[in-house]
Amino acid sequence: MFVIFLATWLKACKRNDPNENNCFKEMFGGIFPHIANGIPDLGIEPFEPLGIRKISVSRNTGQVVQLNGSFNNLKIRGPSNATVAKAELNLEKKFLNFDLEIPKLRINATYNLKGNILLLPLIGAGDVNILLKEIKTSVFTKISLRKIPQEVINIDQMKVKFNVGNMRIHLDNLFNGNKVLSASFSMFLNQNSKEILAELQEDLENGLGDIFTGIWNSVYNKMPIDLWLL
Ligand SMILES: *[C@@H]1O[C@H](CO)[C@@H](O)[C@H](O)[C@H]1NC(C)=O
Ligand SMILES: *[C@@H]1O[C@H](CO)[C@@H](O)[C@H](O)[C@H]1NC(C)=O
Ligand SMILES: *[C@@H]1O[C@H](CO)[C@@H](O)[C@H](O)[C@H]1NC(C)=O
Repeated sequence: MFVIFLATWLKACKRNDPNENNCFKEMFGGIFPHIANGIPDLGIEPFEPLGIRKISVSRNTGQVVQLNGSFNNLKIRGPSNATVAKAELNLEKKFLNFDLEIPKLRINATYNLKGNILLLPLIGAGDVNILLKEIKTSVFTKISLRKIPQEVINIDQMKVKFNVGNMRIHLDNLFNGNKVLSASFSMFLNQNSKEILAELQEDLENGLGDIFTGIWNSVYNKMPIDLWLL
């Protein structure tokens, strides 16, 4: 099975300098479209759409947003269109960092939230649709090399930073389904989406860091480095 990796799209880089001539970036960008759709033979789950069980929000001291609750059963469409803007692997200093750019993410989920946004009370539970555009993420990881039994890269810690150019959000069933209040509140959310997103950023980045760690380990733990670092 590992040979399939090597033969079709696994570009090999030099172990002593995997970043020479952008080798690692090209290797990383090259496997991305393949793993996005999953590789059942290797037990790699597709991440198009990307399913995320839960992102919790707990924000009590924000200027704009005070909110408790969560987004649940997220289905995120668009991550397979990500492009790798930068990628660097350093085996000595034990890090693997990369920047991804994603033109558009469409998210369907349910929500359960209670709190205030700009002093307006928000309470509700129901469906939510979110459209994010021009997403730029920077991912910083600490890695270790593990033998299971062949040597692989394991991501031990991950920090995700992201920047969203534009967001539209629609929450169903706010205010017990009052359509007039819901519509004006949704409009208000969209007009203030930058400020709201900025305050929720830390929760979202932490949530995504945990999720991506799982995804990347499911891939890297199946790629013995002897096959692609020579
Ligand atoms: C990826 O981008 C193409 C071209 O913009 C678009 O047609 C397609 O719907 C996108 N895929 C997803 C899953 O969003
Ligand atoms: C996601 O939400 C949009 C907007 O309400 C809807 O048109 C679409 O059918 C939903 N997709 C899924 C898979 O639920
Ligand atoms: C969120 O929950 C905490 C702990 O239960 C509570 O102290 C706080 O008042 C809640 N905040 C909002 C905005 O509801």
